[in-house]
Amino acid sequence: MPRITFPQGFLWGAATAAYQIEGAVAEDGRGPSIWDTFSHRPGAVLRGDTGDIACDHYHRWESDLDLLVDLGVDSYRFSVSWSRVFPTGSGPINEAGLDFYDRLVDGLLARGIKPMVTLYHWDLPQALQELGGWANRETTDRFVEYARVVHARLGDRVTHWLTLNEPYCTAFVGNLEGRHAPGIKDEATAITVLHHLLLAHGKAVRALRDDGVAGQVGITCNLTSPNPATDSEADVAAWRRLDLYENRLFLDPLFRGQYPDDARAYYKGISDFSFVQNGDLEIIAEPIDYFGINYYERHLVEADPADSVRGWRRVKDAKPTTVGIGVHPEGLLEILHRVSADYTTLPLIITETGISLHDYANPEGEIHDEERVAFYEGHMRAAHEAIQGGVNLVGFYPWSLMDNFEWAWGYAYRFGMYYIDYATQTRMPKDSARWFAEVTRANGIA
Ligand code: FCB
Repeated sequence: MPRITFPQGFLWGAATAAYQIEGAVAEDGRGPSIWDTFSHRPGAVLRGDTGDIACDHYHRWESDLDLLVDLGVDSYRFSVSWSRVFPTGSGPINEAGLDFYDRLVDGLLARGIKPMVTLYHWDLPQALQELGGWANRETTDRFVEYARVVHARLGDRVTHWLTLNEPYCTAFVGNLEGRHAPGIKDEATAITVLHHLLLAHGKAVRALRDDGVAGQVGITCNLTSPNPATDSEADVAAWRRLDLYENRLFLDPLFRGQYPDDARAYYKGISDFSFVQNGDLEIIAEPIDYFGINYYERHLVEADPADSVRGWRRVKDAKPTTVGIGVHPEGLLEILHRVSADYTTLPLIITETGISLHDYANPEGEIHDEERVAFYEGHMRAAHEAIQGGVNLVGFYPWSLMDNFEWAWGYAYRFGMYYIDYATQTRMPKDSARWFAEVTRANGIA
């Protein structure tokens, strides 16, 4: 493999999210979020795991930040827990919750690491869910209030803001499939939720601009690279529908200020899009400074003969990983080219990509995760190829800094560069952590 070097100033990072690592769910005034409620529901999460303790990062944040120094990253992506700041989603501010993030940001700066803050990584305050959650348009205004308060406290030091992480998952995994909080299975709710999420994003971008935000503001979407399984008309039509559902429903409103032409047909009989009010799409398309892409999946798609309106089926990957999806770095390359050719020339950042493996420590305390190293290397080479091809890609953040509470899969699935022994909360570098440290040092792959 040839040696590759990334452009000077390329941002190497590592990513986490609040509910997945913090624990301390009832400490210092934090209120419950929909993930507290959901994870405690019998059968909702594999093996009954919850985020009650998680990686205990709330108490171990200082030594966790030292791990970032060992990795040599330029930046750290973490999320703020809304219910630490507003325990009931609105009303009085819990200063103790903000203090935690204040210390975290200072701790990062003291280590020379740029903070990238995700404002919403799926943990809606439970009190807001009781008012309808994201299906209630008023939640968009609660989000703006919350975003402004966090910005007022941290805005002088945060270099990168992300309003939302993966609206696809909140809308469709949380409100249609019901595999994530709040565990709703209703398609009309899901598409309403999606619109309100995008609206909340646009309103928050405007509000932060009004408040004089100094850092860059963006949003992160999980995008996929779907391809038809055959060139039959039916499979090509199914591929178009899946592409709408996984990509265009997000990209078109954000970058073109409109829902795709085929969106209304897809939702015919389910939703008439009456949740769209005058001016909403303009707000959604409020200009941002950079766009975050999370990449995990490339799909082959075939028609579902039982349903010619919305029917599509993802063809099972021949070589699935533990999470059931295959390893396809070429999908990342396809997405980067597509986004920059069809949607935006803004700087792009890969805000997540990674792989779950059945990692274990050998008697010497070593974790040989060579498949993860190969995964990272393949995706970094794809990223580099995209840059060579003219894509304005400026950063790469592997998911994740450390093993953590992997949502519906609980602690069974490990994505980290650091292994967590949950019984003792010991952090151990996997081979991938050592390998990644060499990448950040060399700004490339030797
Ligand atoms: C993404 C999530 C992230 C993590 C990875 C594996 O969808 O944003 O929190 O769970 O998947």
